[in-house]
Amino acid sequence: MAKKERLMITGGHALEGEVRVSGGKNTAVAVIPATLLADEPCVIENLPDIEDIHALVDILRSLGAEVDYAPDAFMRVDPRPAHGCQVGYRDAQRLRASYYMIGALLGRQGKAEVAFPGGCKIGSRPIDQHLKGFQSLGAVVRDQGGVINAEGEMIGNDVFFDMVTVGGTINVMLAAAKARGTTIIYNAAKEPHIVDLANFLNSMGAKVKGAGTDVIRIKGQSYLHGTTYAVIPDQIETGTLMIAAAATHGDVAIRGCIPQHMEALTAKLLEMGVKVTDNDDAIRVRTTGAHRAVNLKTQVYPGFPTDLQQPMSALLTTAHGTSMVTETIFEQRFRHLDEMARMGARVRVVDRTAIIEGVPQLYGAPVTTTDLRAGAALLVAGLMANGITEIYEPEHIDRGYEHIEEKLRAMGAEIWRETIE
Ligand code: EPZ
Repeated sequence: MAKKERLMITGGHALEGEVRVSGGKNTAVAVIPATLLADEPCVIENLPDIEDIHALVDILRSLGAEVDYAPDAFMRVDPRPAHGCQVGYRDAQRLRASYYMIGALLGRQGKAEVAFPGGCKIGSRPIDQHLKGFQSLGAVVRDQGGVINAEGEMIGNDVFFDMVTVGGTINVMLAAAKARGTTIIYNAAKEPHIVDLANFLNSMGAKVKGAGTDVIRIKGQSYLHGTTYAVIPDQIETGTLMIAAAATHGDVAIRGCIPQHMEALTAKLLEMGVKVTDNDDAIRVRTTGAHRAVNLKTQVYPGFPTDLQQPMSALLTTAHGTSMVTETIFEQRFRHLDEMARMGARVRVVDRTAIIEGVPQLYGAPVTTTDLRAGAALLVAGLMANGITEIYEPEHIDRGYEHIEEKLRAMGAEIWRETIE
């Protein structure tokens, strides 16, 4: 029988001290495919050492790119020998961001055959807007038995998104960077990783303006040179660590982060009675008293991020009063709540709102992760709980959090990993 692992946590220890944030997952998974657009080698630094990055290394190599990868140090990609255009089912299923290979390959050579992506099961997650964007730029797109077959010379055009989509915005930026003429994306996403991808592309000589607003203009360039680029720190890891510090009534300095990216979470934590202070690239979070219940609604940036809704709802399980958490982005992002109910959380879901009645204490229990941020929520719950929490299927967590056990242990958490049959 295959060996599996579980994470074990003895809860109740206040997190204290310092922790350094890793490079951003959702930036890295866009920047790595973007190296295919370069006409010279690129070096990327500050990449998190996580499963999604390993999967992308394998995909780049399978396309023929030369990849030199030293986890925790750098990745050098020479895209010149990459002549492949196919990403098969097994590779594409390893991560959501495999869909960026469509935009990158179309941008590079006007042809992509990429199987539908995998990633967290948090709703139906269609990619119709991505495909509509490629079609606006001149691609003929066909869905052939679960494989997206897109082909055509990219020619700049206006792209209007029906809804704000992070993935769609990034994919069209990739397809447009080397297009003939100018592309204008209307109703673009404004997340920090959109801005970081634009900075990366511009560091290769691309002409991307307006990233961080809802209109992005991309003047296609025929040649993009090599670059050395460090990705921004992970906004969601920063937020998860802030929540964990508050949840354990600890006192933690989170270093190497960008406090401006955290404003929506900071505002909610302050409303709960948590003390949050920041300076240039650090945030200190501490809690001495009780937490107050709050209401929140997930929104596109700069609103409260859906990726922090799950860990935040873990924190709210022991706040004084009743919190209402409304998820507006993904329709199935509450699967962690049933698991937390095993730990004593009092929660019910009505439509897209979780109603969380604060209880005095969570208790350790066996629980199972269903997706990446559900895993983060269970980690937070386990750190808060009285007794031992066993978290099954921790591989979801490994997809997005670098060295999470080591980081938590260094701040006083009692957490370890066991192999099970
Ligand atoms: C990205 O997913 C992130 N993934 C997600 O992070 C994150 O939760 C999400 O953006 C929102 O911030 C990566 O960066 C790899 P969307 P994505 O396109 O691109 C609908 C994590 O935990 N939609 O902004 O899939 C869609 O169904 C992960 O790190 C369409 O209908 O998100 C959703 O309701 C999970 N058609 C909404 O738009 C489309 O063509 C927003 O999705 C595209 C999206």
